[in-house]
Amino acid sequence: MSAPTQHPPRRRVGASLPDFPWDSLAAAKARAAAHPGGIVDLSVGTPVDATPAVVADALRSAANAPGYPQTHGTPALRETVASWFARRRGVPGLDPDGVLPTVGSKELVAWLPLLLGLGDGDVVAHPAVAYPTYDVGARLAGATPLGADTVEELDAAWEAGRRVRLLWLNSPSNPTGAVRSVGELAALVDWARARDVVVASDECYAELGWDAAHDTTRGGLVPSVLDPRVCGGDHTGLLVAYSTSKQSNLAGYRAAFLAGDVALVRELLELRKHAGMIVPWPVQVALRAALGDDEHVAAQRERYRARRDVLRPALERAGFRVDASAAGLYLWSTRGEPCRTTIDLLAERGVLAAPGDFYGPPGARHVRIALTATDERIGEVPARLADLA
Ligand SMILES: Cc1ncc(COP(=O)(O)O)c(C=O)c1O
Repeated sequence: MSAPTQHPPRRRVGASLPDFPWDSLAAAKARAAAHPGGIVDLSVGTPVDATPAVVADALRSAANAPGYPQTHGTPALRETVASWFARRRGVPGLDPDGVLPTVGSKELVAWLPLLLGLGDGDVVAHPAVAYPTYDVGARLAGATPLGADTVEELDAAWEAGRRVRLLWLNSPSNPTGAVRSVGELAALVDWARARDVVVASDECYAELGWDAAHDTTRGGLVPSVLDPRVCGGDHTGLLVAYSTSKQSNLAGYRAAFLAGDVALVRELLELRKHAGMIVPWPVQVALRAALGDDEHVAAQRERYRARRDVLRPALERAGFRVDASAAGLYLWSTRGEPCRTTIDLLAERGVLAAPGDFYGPPGARHVRIALTATDERIGEVPARLADLA
């Protein structure tokens, strides 16, 4: 009788992933929760205001859904996305064939490297201080993540023989709120296209600009990579990931989409059809309603603006410096000390923030303070920090 074959052990994908960072905040959360006035939790970017009626009604109207929905989304949904880009993002002429709904954008961020066929030896570049899922997605595919923000850093990696295949951009940034200019985006797009590197631009905070240059209510705009001033009107090699979670209080619906290069979208569509990565029909209907109504987005932006106008001066009075934060849902703040010291100082006062080291080593002296709490909770903060003034 021959000996049983010895196979190598199963590869445990989870072994290549970092620990879930939020676990390290448990002690600070318990301390903040012990405050007699209750916790003010500004550590996560999860919306707290109601889902707009126009969207909830659309969801309800589509509750009868016995058949499978289209993975590509209906033509009507894709046309709505194209006209939203023209109306809100300064991107005319987007081809509706180059639109693909996604189940929220986090799954897309996590699986895109694998769906693009990346693996061992390939490099996924992403901002050095970043939403952690870019790194996770690279690792899930067996590729290598690389923090790089500038053409110079990308060039250095390329010259050193690193095989960059995918470049993630995130403007406005989570966590810093920094916004890339048209010129910066154009330089990065030119660099990538010259090397056949796919650019995936995660732009889900684009409707939440605060300073004049980026505030759509004052004629500003957060530029998209699909903006003709950035890409010359040619979407080859470019994808935008966009989500309605933040601007429409729809994180619970998982309503997002991808848009850009038609050939790349077709390739991803085929794979996602095979893999059953389909947005439920009622959510497709709700997403179309959300993108067709600008009024609720404007109202939500004003809610966040008011909260920001309470938090920012309270932080500055308490010795914080707020960096970047020109757009998005966060104040990227520092007291010039290690972030965990600041987290403890806030937790003693019943306020929970996210430590900057969650987002990469350059964030180690910042904390990320979210605008996503009720007016009542945010209104507590100035008094809680008053003794630091
Ligand atoms: C930069 C960025 N990308 C993607 C997401 C995921 O959003 P969702 O999966 O809700 O669409 C988030 C959520 O916080 C984010 O901050």
